This record gives sequence, C-alpha cells and structure tokens, in this order.
Amino acid sequence: MTPSATERGYAPVRTEHTAVDLAVTGTVPEHLDGRYVRIGPNPMGGFDPEADHLFAGDGMVHGVRLRGGRAEWYRNRWVRTADVSRALGERPRPGRVHAGMDFAVNTNVLGHAGRTLALVEGGTRPYELTDELETVGACDFDGTLPGGYTAHPHRDPDTGELHAVSYFFGWGNRVQYSVLTAAGRIRRIVDVEVGGSPMMHDFALTDRHVILFDLPVTFDPRLATRGMPRWLARPGRSLLSRVVGRTPIPEPVIARAAWLGSRYSSGLGVPYAWNPDYPARVGVLPRDGGSGGVRWFGIAPCYVFHQLNAYEDGDVIVVDVVRHPKMFAGGTVPGEGVPVLERWRVDPASGRVTQDVVDDRPQEFPRADERLVGRRHRYGYSVGADTGAGRERLLDFDPDVLFKHDLAAGTTAVHRFGPGRAAGEFVFVPASDDADEDEGVLMGYVHDAATGRSDLALVDAQTLETVGLVHLPVRVPSGFHGNWIPAAP
Ligand SMILES: [Fe+2]
Repeated sequence: MTPSATERGYAPVRTEHTAVDLAVTGTVPEHLDGRYVRIGPNPMGGFDPEADHLFAGDGMVHGVRLRGGRAEWYRNRWVRTADVSRALGERPRPGRVHAGMDFAVNTNVLGHAGRTLALVEGGTRPYELTDELETVGACDFDGTLPGGYTAHPHRDPDTGELHAVSYFFGWGNRVQYSVLTAAGRIRRIVDVEVGGSPMMHDFALTDRHVILFDLPVTFDPRLATRGMPRWLARPGRSLLSRVVGRTPIPEPVIARAAWLGSRYSSGLGVPYAWNPDYPARVGVLPRDGGSGGVRWFGIAPCYVFHQLNAYEDGDVIVVDVVRHPKMFAGGTVPGEGVPVLERWRVDPASGRVTQDVVDDRPQEFPRADERLVGRRHRYGYSVGADTGAGRERLLDFDPDVLFKHDLAAGTTAVHRFGPGRAAGEFVFVPASDDADEDEGVLMGYVHDAATGRSDLALVDAQTLETVGLVHLPVRVPSGFHGNWIPAAP
C-alpha cells in the first residue's frame, strides 16, 4: 500500500543538528524570549507504516531559541531512553524507570518548575532535558511520582500546578489523578476506578472538576504478545486476559514481562485497540474528591485524543474536544473516520451529555490560550488533519491549514500555509501576561515539500497573517505536541 501523506510526513530524520543565528523572513516579535520545543516519533530504525506503530517510535525533540527579535538556534535531539543510549553507543542516563517501562518518550514536551520535560503515557516516566535539549535522565519528581505519568497534564493558571490523569495497564481498573506543585513535587494522588484498561490519552480540567474520557480503546493482550514465540505468547496472552483491567499486576512481574517482550518480540508496539464491547463514558470528579467521587455519563462510542479546553457554565460543564468516530480498529496510524471539533455539555441535572459539532472539517491538535485552562474561552486553534477516511473530505480544502475557532461567534477563520506545506500543532503565545485572549502569536513547524526543509512559523492570532518564518536548515518530521517555554525571568 502506498503510504499516505501523513505516513510520509512521519519519516524520521537521521541526524542531530545544531544551527545558530537562523535566517528569518518577516520578524520575530521582541517579546518572545524563550524556546519553542516540540517532540514526535523519530524511530532510529526507520518507520514502516505496515509494520510499526506510529506511536512507538523513539522520541526526538526539536527546539528553537528566540530572543531579542532573533532566532538564536535550532537543535534536534533524540531523548536518551536506555534503547536510544545503547543504539548511539552512549552511557545510560541516570534516573529510575517505573516497572521496567522505558519505552519511546515521544508525545509532549513542556517546561515546569525549571525543568524541560519530555513526556509519554502508559506507564513510562518523563525524561528531563537540559535547556539545550540534552537528556538528563528519567524523572520521578524528586521521588514523589510512584508510577508513570501522562503526556497531557494541564496547568492551573492560578496556582501553576500541573494536574494529570495517568493510565497504566498494570493498575487493574484504575487510573491515577495527580497534582504536581509549582515547585515540581507531587502533592496529591487519587486512584479512580474505570471500566477496564482504557487508553486515557487526555483529560480536561475546570476550576472545580476533573473530566475523564473512559473510551473504547483498551489494552489488547493479543497486541501485547504479538511477535513473541508461541511458548511465550500463549501463556502471556492468557495471563494478561485474566488480569488486565481487573486487578493490579505487581511491578516486578511487569518489569520481567517488559524485559521478555523487548528480548523476544520485534517490539511491543502500542498494545491498545478499539474495543466495541467497552462502554464509552465521561466522568466528572470534583478536584478535591476521593476515589469514589466520580460521576459517570454514558455517551455513544467514539474516541478523543485531545480536548481543547473545558469550563463550568453554571452547573453544566462545557468541554470542547476533537472527536474521532473510531480509533485503532484496524490500523496503527490514526485514520478511521473524520476527526471533528465538537462542544460537549455535561449536564448533571439531566444526567446526559449533548454533543454538538462546531466544525466538521478534519482537524486535530486543538489548543487554547493556556491562561484560560479550566476557564471560559472564546477562541480555539487546530490544524487540518490528513487522516485516512478523512482524505475524501479534503477535496474542497487544503489540509495544510490552521483553524481559528471563535466559539462565541460560531465562526472559524482559516490560515493557509500554501501548497505542499504541512503544518504540525500550533501553540498560542500571548503578547504579554495581561494581553487579550487572542493578542499574541501562534507558532508551530511547517514542512515545505518543495525545499525539503521546515520553518518555525509565527502567525498573528488576531489577523492570522504571517508575522515571521524562521528558516530551519533541515526537515522537522510530522510529530505530536509542543509548547513555548519562556526564559526564566
Ligand atoms: Fe496528544
């Protein structure tokens, strides 16, 4: 099968680069003093969409340092998990991993408490990076993180604390809600019972509640044992089928299984798949609630990788999400239906969730102004998604677009990057701490197929006009998430 544009875009680069004093077309606003960092899978052994899971590739972070109206440097670095260190002939990095889980750290990168953190989910811990993106080692927040973490924590703008919901197949039918202080230590953990062992990629936060997506992509013992010799696969599958999603598995057992998997299979991949028997639910947990404090609301089957933001509207909770009709039912690259932007209203009085389409064009990577996490937002941003079944829907528009949704007016404006140019996630950076909601720039990487290189594009969030293009000397493959990390004052 011919790889799709999406799959081609994820083709890895082979080399780490350091480039200084980058050429810029247009301007870099003077107020931008910090780093834009973004991570994605960049498998050291190459990427075969027929055999490899998109989400399993070794992580590589790409960063640009902006200061004083200049683009000082670009760097790309693999995150040195044990496998990457070994492949590069380097000494292993310090830091204890959780339950032998040391898989590709490739999903998000952000700054918190002075650390640059590369994040992944499913039981693996964050890795700390230096300001210049070299790997320090696995991070357990000074010994306060008992398990793995998530790729999608959300920062309370009032307290500076990172709220997170983490999942791990070894925890039985539990996920873990945690709060990381502004100083970088876990201060609160709540185990929340769910329907089994779902892939809970993201969650939403309001100023009073934690919103959980308990959806039908769940741990699949067949995928977990794929590629293993039969003497190992059969008992492994049997054991996993009996315990995963039901009872916790001791960490030494998982560590042993992870070791066996890495030794005897071609790679664990990502053992989660569409599960038509698993009820889809949205959970509402008061922030200060305990394990039993969650209330569940049934919804029609679907999958949500990402929410845009959530807030309280009286007693109703409003959550904007990108909804996929299905996920990982037959493939390992997302593309089983059109991902659209929806507004969900969770109504405790009626016990129901209403789901209204905001924009039905294929899109992903929704983002909002981070100063409004958990508060009422007006604007949201996303990028066009060239995914499988959505491809026929792309005939009437160029997928290489950035959307600006005005949720108050019910309108969407579009910025086009131009033919042959593909955009990744775009993040909003305000012009100042007290700037208006859309007063600032949107930034993200754009790949130009004609030149084979990428730019860091800066787009005015109010007008959607290009402010500046920072020209990178190389291609940045399609990836996952990134963030702006302001320089320390
Ligand atoms: Fe994500």
